[in-house]
Amino acid sequence: MYDKLKPILQEELAAMRETGTYKTERMLESPQGREIAVGGKKLLNFCANNYLGLSGTGLLEKASENAVKKWGFGLASVRFICGTQTVHKDLEAAIAKLVGQDDAVLYSSCFMANVGLFQTFFGAEDMIISDELNHASIIDAVRLSKAERAVFKHMDMADLEEKLKTAAGKRLTVVATDGVFSMDGDVAPLKAICDLAGKYGALVMVDDAHGIGVMGSNGGGTPEHCGVADRVDFVTGTFGKALGGAGGAYTATRKEAADYLRNRSRTYLFSNSLDTAVTGTSLFVIDYLAKHPEVRKKLWDNTALFRARMKENGFTVSDAPHPITPIMLGDEKRAVAMAKALLDEGIYVIGFAFPVVPKGKARIRVQVSAAHTEADIERAVQAFTKVGKQFGAF
Ligand SMILES: Cc1ncc(COP(=O)(O)O)c(C=O)c1O
Repeated sequence: MYDKLKPILQEELAAMRETGTYKTERMLESPQGREIAVGGKKLLNFCANNYLGLSGTGLLEKASENAVKKWGFGLASVRFICGTQTVHKDLEAAIAKLVGQDDAVLYSSCFMANVGLFQTFFGAEDMIISDELNHASIIDAVRLSKAERAVFKHMDMADLEEKLKTAAGKRLTVVATDGVFSMDGDVAPLKAICDLAGKYGALVMVDDAHGIGVMGSNGGGTPEHCGVADRVDFVTGTFGKALGGAGGAYTATRKEAADYLRNRSRTYLFSNSLDTAVTGTSLFVIDYLAKHPEVRKKLWDNTALFRARMKENGFTVSDAPHPITPIMLGDEKRAVAMAKALLDEGIYVIGFAFPVVPKGKARIRVQVSAAHTEADIERAVQAFTKVGKQFGAF
């Protein structure tokens, strides 16, 4: 009886359009990269999570071609039936080593890694304590577990401690946090979180989707950046951002926990093996990064340059220790309209509005990449300055 659902959806979609929260998807007419083709125009790309600039370089296409030639296109199986090749085990070992854990388990996406984590380990006698700004996939994953839940104020250690006190008597307690919060680029205070978790006997889970490959002196992610890689118990992350951009993900953890995931995690057990192109290419990327530290240096140089030039031009810009640089605009419609005007100037950025960010905190999120040249960055700064004046952004 679609007739009943249709008017409800029509009304809600109309309301989204009215409030500026309706999302349209622009069609890319080229591969992802430093430049992309949209609407017949070439644009400078400042909104992909292509931090290391590897997407669109051709390197990854070659690596994926090689992987498919060697391992075939796909396995038509889950891992435990007949879907495990040495390339899967090699990638698990490589990513575990990079993030400083004993072992890792591959998933089709980080959303699935998160969904497959909490319900596997934590039941009715346990408690999950989660940062209020954690990614939607953690929020949904936590809901699927039968554990008691508590939410602490964003990066507020006093509030976390209060919540940890309420967990006294629980069998297990876990503190869950994003490593890097994707809307602001702010980094979880993992040392303080681990200290508190240690004091109250809790485990620590970090979703490092935006940290892996970017943060830490070896690109091992936010736990490495914070010096606590050996104190974190579960790290989830994606190959769909800095490490190639196609998809695929992992949970890196202690030996027994990885073993247990392989036996009990539903989104692993009952879902196809990670495809061979992504698996082989991700392995290639991890090796490439170890051999090319200059790529990560370029990312940081570009980030510093963009922020300095934006500040010189009157913008208030965050100093978050991550290349994500939100330009805060507040009003939903202004953020969306300004992003569109920037598109006309040849700069591809997106306005983020509710429900991706809280109401009244709309923004344009700029993603700096190692692929950008200094001239690209200056072009973006000039376009922001011109459009920002028109829209009263500073
Ligand atoms: C913090 C965080 N966790 C998880 C995800 C989901 O990752 P995936 O695209 O691999 O499902 C994202 C992606 O937006 C993210 O930013």
